[in-house]
Amino acid sequence: MKQKNYNITESQSLFNKAKEVIPGGIFGHYKYSVRDSGPKFFSRAKDAHFWDVDDNEYVDLICAYGPMILGYNHPLIDQAARTQYDLGNTVSLASPVMIELAETLVDMVSAADWALFGKNGGDSTTLAVMIARAATGREKVIKIRDGYHGVTAWMQEGDDRPGILPSDGDHVLAIDWNDVNAFEAAIAAHADEIACFISTPYDHPVFRDNSLPADGYWNQIETLCRKHDIVLIVDDVRAGFRINLSGSNVAYGFTPDLICFGKAMANGYPISALVGSDALKQAAEDVYYTGTQFFNAVPMAAAKATLLELQRVDAAKQMTEFGNKLNEGLVKVANAHGYDLVVSGIPAMPYYRLHNVERKTHFAWIDECVKRGVYMVGYHNHFVSTAHTEKDIINICDAAAEAFSVLGSADQYRIESS
Ligand SMILES: Cc1ncc(COP(=O)(O)O)c(C=O)c1O
Repeated sequence: MKQKNYNITESQSLFNKAKEVIPGGIFGHYKYSVRDSGPKFFSRAKDAHFWDVDDNEYVDLICAYGPMILGYNHPLIDQAARTQYDLGNTVSLASPVMIELAETLVDMVSAADWALFGKNGGDSTTLAVMIARAATGREKVIKIRDGYHGVTAWMQEGDDRPGILPSDGDHVLAIDWNDVNAFEAAIAAHADEIACFISTPYDHPVFRDNSLPADGYWNQIETLCRKHDIVLIVDDVRAGFRINLSGSNVAYGFTPDLICFGKAMANGYPISALVGSDALKQAAEDVYYTGTQFFNAVPMAAAKATLLELQRVDAAKQMTEFGNKLNEGLVKVANAHGYDLVVSGIPAMPYYRLHNVERKTHFAWIDECVKRGVYMVGYHNHFVSTAHTEKDIINICDAAAEAFSVLGSADQYRIESS
């Protein structure tokens, strides 16, 4: 998969054109992956690969930031979508496929007694918090510092957020990851005011090593939630289906009240879901949260097909094995070139960081990998899919090795710590 005379002329020209009519040219989270030297627009995609508008081919380690899990243009999923499309998509009534999808989730996800649907992950996290507040009659939300749950105003932390009011976060308490004492202190400081605790199953922030739950962490959190009637929400929007198909919580041995899914659940078709326990079913019925497109039947059919296929191929196991091999290969390549590559997070969503060098050196390495046909980003966890192959690992490692060679000796970049 060698790139011949890598150039991004057409991408750059489209980017300039886009800037005329689209603020920033590329917006939202996609804007953070735009690099001067890299591609900006794709022309087509298949399996674990995509081609940019200059016809450079990439093995994709970003998977559209998670949605692609079985491979782009997966025939089975696209056929399920097409069949439903022929019957109808957005109609004045819901389609029975909605029930089939809810049944599939309830069968598959151990903590699920019911399911509701939205479009984006942020729909399911917003709805989860509303349900928790409705059920408890309390206002406050505990979240993990820098934990991302979508763009709703109350979920955005930090001072430099144009359009966000300081008061938007008035009822949100942020604590550090893996810190049970901080959780207890927040509960003590706000007795009978905490509606819910929302957290991803493990910590996957940007620009920082990802961190798995400490031994006993989730059990202690679960116990405290039960004791204080706090609704326990797992935001599985990103990690969902890449750790355990029954819910990432199963891997960590605890049971939440609500689980938010999105991203991978329909292999790229637009749909998200909130699943929950019977105890919260009434509150889930009482809360009003909806959207014009929530009842699209095509993504529901695609989601049902995706979930069944994930089960059939034992996808989480497959991606974990692939991720482990990939990470081993990359660490070896880095060592061989005198670099120390730190890998964190789960194998199916690896976060990479070159140790003891400045961030710009890490980005330079990523840029060189991209030029050699491996789509990666420097600040975010990566994603693998069931469509990635052994050959991809070889190509990725070859590209990574060449990228290190281009950078040259690690000694020239070495700093005390990074
Ligand atoms: C953990 C997590 N929760 C929620 C969201 C929001 O999902 P969406 O962008 O689909 O609204 C994301 C998106 O990246 C996420 O990673």
